[in-house]
Formats: sequence, structure tokens, C-alpha cells
Amino acid sequence: MNSVIAAAVMFLLVQVTQALPSLYHRGWLRLLQEGDGCGVCQPELCPEISGCLAGTVLDACDCCPECGNAEGQICDLDNTSHFYGRCGEDLNCLLDINAAFLGEIPEPQCTCRSQESMCGSNGKTYNNICRFKEVFHSNRESNLSITHRGPCETVPWITTPPRDVHNVTGNDIIFGCEVSAYPMALVEWRKKGTDNFLPGDDAHISIQARGGPERYGITGWLQIQGLKKSDEGIYTCYTRNKYGEAFASASLSVYDSGKTKKHCSANKRDFRSLKS
Ligand SMILES: *[C@@H]1O[C@H](CO)[C@@H](O)[C@H](O)[C@H]1NC(C)=O
Ligand SMILES: *[C@@H]1O[C@H](CO)[C@@H](O)[C@H](O)[C@H]1NC(C)=O
Ligand SMILES: *[C@@H]1O[C@H](CO)[C@@H](O)[C@H](O)[C@H]1NC(C)=O
Repeated sequence: MNSVIAAAVMFLLVQVTQALPSLYHRGWLRLLQEGDGCGVCQPELCPEISGCLAGTVLDACDCCPECGNAEGQICDLDNTSHFYGRCGEDLNCLLDINAAFLGEIPEPQCTCRSQESMCGSNGKTYNNICRFKEVFHSNRESNLSITHRGPCETVPWITTPPRDVHNVTGNDIIFGCEVSAYPMALVEWRKKGTDNFLPGDDAHISIQARGGPERYGITGWLQIQGLKKSDEGIYTCYTRNKYGEAFASASLSVYDSGKTKKHCSANKRDFRSLKS
């Protein structure tokens, strides 16, 4: 009995919506997107869409455009589920293999189809075509284009300069300097007032360099062990390739460890308690 009534209601609904298709379209579309299947696509009824960082993709009904998910966002692994959404231009939905190694549950993520760097017309290197398109779509630089594949060849620049250090004699200190360069550059250190690059023949000074943390990046360190008063001064991180050079300086102040102890409040209290 109930099924007869339900069938009659369905029949009536179908009759009504066929008579008034445009009026009912939006309501139907919402119902259909919730999993009842897709109706006839009427692109002229699709909402206007703009400002999508990863471009647009078609919705679950393959009808209206919607924002694609950007690099690193969670996505639906196959086209039978419509929960997180589809990945945008030049992106594939892939399981994050690193997460499995770290003991986490791997989640499908939008991953750029190519990890090849791109050089933009603004002289900036983008890690991949997807990063480039995010900046392009964000409309911050509407006349931006790709000059060539691979990183831009430019003068190196110092992305993180060394910072001023204050410490007491006898302690160890480290200056750090991060450089971005293509072609790759060396990171060298100099103390102001001397002509030679460090460490020279000084056994209590050492330098180190490692690639990264960014692509086309190199990080250099200068370590001074067992600070002496004479180590005070200005230290310069210096880098160069065939297009030019860059440098950044920081100061080292060295205090006498004996003097600072006298300023210590704990000592003052001890003196007072001895007097009384
Ligand atoms: C869904 O995926 C299958 C297999 O990848 C493909 O053959 C099919 O055309 C896709 N359907 C849509 C609507 O994209
Ligand atoms: C874009 O156009 C502006 C003004 O015309 C110009 O100043 C800027 O350098 C251009 N940027 C690029 C990346 O070409
Ligand atoms: C001085 O150097 C030591 C390591 O040798 C460090 O633990 C300490 O925080 C530094 N002090 C200051 C004020 O930076």
C-alpha cells in the first residue's frame, strides 16, 4: 500500500518538474549532487566562478565548473566519490607515500604532475608548474608568464642572513647563512678587517655548508669554539656565481665570563645574607 502511494507521489513530482523545468532545476540539482545521480546539464544555469588558485574543474555531475583543489589539498582518489573534490589543472590525486612511512594513515593529496622548476618572467623560480599557476591565478601579477623550464639563472641572494650574537668567553657560537642561487654558489665567511676567508689557520674556527633546505639553496655555518675577547667583530657571509655576488654581515660581542657573574642577582643575595 505504502509503495503504491510513494509511486504515485513520484509520478506526480516528475509530471510537475517536467512542466516547470527551469523553476525546479536548482532544487533538483542540489538533490542530485547529494547522490541521487545527475540530471540534464544546463550550463547556462551554472553560477559564475572566479579566483580559483588551481583553475576550475567540472563538478560531480560533470556539468558546472567549480574550483579545483590546489597542490597539497586532500582530494577524492577516484571519480566515484565526491567528498573532498577534484584536483585542479596539472594536478593528480595521489596517496601520500611518505605518510605511510611515518606510520600515519596516508591521505590522497593533489600532487603536481611535474616537479620540474619553472622560471617566471619576473625572474623568480617556481618549484613546479602548479606553484607558478597559483601565483598566476591569484592575479597578483596578471602579465606573468613562463620564460623557460628550469630555474632562473640569476645573481645569488641571501634568503636568511646571519644574526648578531652576544655571548661570554669560553662558550661556542654559530652564525648561519642561507643562500639561494642558480647556478649554485659557494658560501664563504670573512671577518671585517682581515683579507683571508675563514677559517684560515685558526683551529678554534670551523665552517660547514650543506645543500638545502630549499631547492637551489645552500646553508653555510661558521662556528667559533671557546670564544675569546679577540673574536669580537663583524662577520660577513659572502656568496658569488657568474652573475654576481651577495653578502650579509652580523656582529659578535664577547663579554668576559668573570665580569658577568658579579652582576648575577643570586650572588648579591648571598652577599646580603652573609652581612646580616
Ligand atoms: C571515471 O574513471 C574511469 C576510469 O578512470 C573513466 O573510464 C571514466 O571515464 C571516468 N568517468 C568520468 C565521468 O570522468
Ligand atoms: C607587468 O606589467 C607592469 C606594468 O606594465 C610592469 O611594471 C611589470 O614589470 C610587468 N611584470 C612582468 C612580470 O612582466
Ligand atoms: C651562549 O652560547 C651557549 C652555547 O655555547 C648557549 O647555550 C647560550 O644560549 C648562549 N648565550 C646567549 C646569550 O646567546
